[in-house]
Amino acid sequence: MPHLKGLILSGGRGTRLRPITHTSAKQLVPVANQPVLFYGIRSMVEAGITEIGIILNPETGGEIREVAGDGSQFGAQITYIDQVSPDGLAHAVLTAEPFLGDSSFVMYLGDNLLQGGISELVQQFEEHAPDAMILLQPVDDPTAYGVAELEDGRVARLVEKPKEPKSDLALVGVYLFTKRILEAAKAIEPSPRGELEITDAIQWQVDQGDRVEPHVVHGWWKDTGKLADMLEANRLILETIERRVDGDVDEHSQVEGRVIIEPGARIVRSVVRGPVVIGRDAVVEDSYVGPYSAIAADAVVERSEVEHSILLERAKLIGLEGRIESSLLGRDVIVRRGERTPRAYRFMVGDNSEIEIL
Ligand code: TTP
Repeated sequence: MPHLKGLILSGGRGTRLRPITHTSAKQLVPVANQPVLFYGIRSMVEAGITEIGIILNPETGGEIREVAGDGSQFGAQITYIDQVSPDGLAHAVLTAEPFLGDSSFVMYLGDNLLQGGISELVQQFEEHAPDAMILLQPVDDPTAYGVAELEDGRVARLVEKPKEPKSDLALVGVYLFTKRILEAAKAIEPSPRGELEITDAIQWQVDQGDRVEPHVVHGWWKDTGKLADMLEANRLILETIERRVDGDVDEHSQVEGRVIIEPGARIVRSVVRGPVVIGRDAVVEDSYVGPYSAIAADAVVERSEVEHSILLERAKLIGLEGRIESSLLGRDVIVRRGERTPRAYRFMVGDNSEIEIL
């Protein structure tokens, strides 16, 4: 078999992560201070796939090009592919046709994280040589996912967000395809929501008698497309870090457990309880940073308490009374206690922001 290529889908609208996605791609939101997308690129490279195409939404794609570059930092060669309108996963595959040529490929949704990587799946695909392989995982609420029904160890039917699911096996955001998927994507019509669905394309293959092989994933899998899942992914990745303190911790501070403190970061009169990562040149002063927090470079936490949250670059929390938890703060966001009278809530908040107060 000719070598496999990789296709990472990092376009889309990202409506469920607004307002973050008004100004940036959701695949760049950091999980444990690394863009989600980087985990996908790395697992491809680990599986021996170095020729990688990345689908972009032209509106937010520029920044992805900048941070991922030509791929050499990962040991890969990256080709960027603009998808002018996010018309579905199968549409993204068609957009990538010139890059894919006749190659078989791994398609990886750029906002997904797969604990065990993809090496084993790639190996299975190469050994069994099916027409397509899909990854599945049992979930509690199949109505929110693409769901597969199996018969005799083969995929019999795929249903997108079924109202009455006949199986609890959700489609994980990683697929292995031969060039046959291009034919399938050309044969199908847009769904009621106006997208060319990858589930319909795979169903077309099943209907044509193609061998579509299921692979049930055992490690954890997270689609970070919405806040709760993004925080959960952050928690799961932070669980795996090793302690490393390269920044400054003053003698009045306590840094407990698995904590990464990057060079230039300063911890002053504070308690940091891992697992936590604190980025370069960030400042934590007179504060508490609790488990499952990822504080990006140049962020500031001053006279505040934060737990189970993600702060992006230069976000600032200053003088809060309550503890912040389960929150995602975008770049340059400031949340602080007002000193002016009358004491009042004062907001300057962009579209689609959400604030929950005590
Ligand atoms: P989704 O999360 O299903 O779609 P979305 O990004 O438009 O988000 P939302 O539903 O919140 O509006 O997409 C899964 C992945 O595939 C994600 O990384 C974006 C990418 N994608 C494309 O690259 N092109 C597309 O046409 C679509 C729909 C998604």
